[in-house]
Amino acid sequence: MNVRDSTLPAIEACSSVEFGLPIDLRSDTVTQPTPAMYERMRSAILGDDGLDGDPTARELEALVADKLGKEAGLFVPTATMGNLLAAMSQTQRQAKVLIETNAHMLASEWGGAILSGLSYVGVPGSQGAMNLDSLRQALSPTGPFQVELICMETTHANAGGTVLPLDHMRAVREAAGTAGVRVHVDGARLFNAAVALNLSPDALTCFADTVVICLSKGLSAPAGAVLVGDLPTIDKARHLRKILGGTQRQVGIVAAAGLVAIETMTDRLVEDHLLAKRLSAALNTIHDAALQANTPQTNIVFADLGESGPDSSVWASQLNRLGVLVRPWGERRLRLVTHRHLDDASIDGAVAAFRKVAEVLLEG
Ligand SMILES: Cc1ncc(COP(=O)(O)O)c(C=O)c1O
Repeated sequence: MNVRDSTLPAIEACSSVEFGLPIDLRSDTVTQPTPAMYERMRSAILGDDGLDGDPTARELEALVADKLGKEAGLFVPTATMGNLLAAMSQTQRQAKVLIETNAHMLASEWGGAILSGLSYVGVPGSQGAMNLDSLRQALSPTGPFQVELICMETTHANAGGTVLPLDHMRAVREAAGTAGVRVHVDGARLFNAAVALNLSPDALTCFADTVVICLSKGLSAPAGAVLVGDLPTIDKARHLRKILGGTQRQVGIVAAAGLVAIETMTDRLVEDHLLAKRLSAALNTIHDAALQANTPQTNIVFADLGESGPDSSVWASQLNRLGVLVRPWGERRLRLVTHRHLDDASIDGAVAAFRKVAEVLLEG
């Protein structure tokens, strides 16, 4: 059946009551601040972060650095800016940066290479982990420009929220050490990885010189990310942040929510992972050939749609009519992300909507 086939059977919009909707599975970035965050924001002690520092932002930077076993931290508006600053503060212009081919820094933040004058080079991988032979090959010196940074991503968004095995992180660290190259981890969802491994986050971050974590995904803060590393690197990143226009003034009002996120919202991520497993298992009972969900390691479920039949945009719009919001992830895949505004009942509601769409699209 063609995607935009106007002869597609229309699904009657259902009342949200029937499915317990709306159910937003597009991303964990849709999470709203908690009441405790609002409270902390209201009472936060503020200063000028571009002048002599904002005390609440400094408190957050120190807390995250401590949790991740690093010397210093830098509050940044987004993880994208944190990744860019990590690259710029640890390299010289025209150096090469090695990144797993499907990693967010390469697939979605390509602009970082344009802005920094760096050459982002993809290393093929599987499940988000770079192939180590390819990595070693890419590290061997060729041509005038040297590799100066390797980036890993955990959890790996485009691989379906996969967690890099510690042995892999250790091997990358060793290869980098042998080549005299620094290591950065895009840990936008690092706490999901730590929770999935049942380890404290510094057991992962010890394999990196710098790490960025995002506060506004499953941790539910409204905005912000923190870059951590050694003091000279963070000092340099702080200077570069100013140049990029990322230095904000009374930014403690946002950092306050980040403090609550770090203090109270990391351990509960396990609940999101359980919901993702529930969702995936139930989706796999609907239609073997047309709908195959991965077994999620964390909070991201990929639902693959088989080789023929309606494509992801058709499924997404039909689900949308039933109040279930999902994101097409390429033509034949949907991405579904669990988070704290969902519970067993809403997952079951989403599955009921999927079942109804499958009935209409595939059998109707
Ligand atoms: C793995 C990863 N890194 C970085 C980012 C960028 O985060 P931000 O939206 O805070 O720039 C994302 C966003 O989804 C992500 O999934």
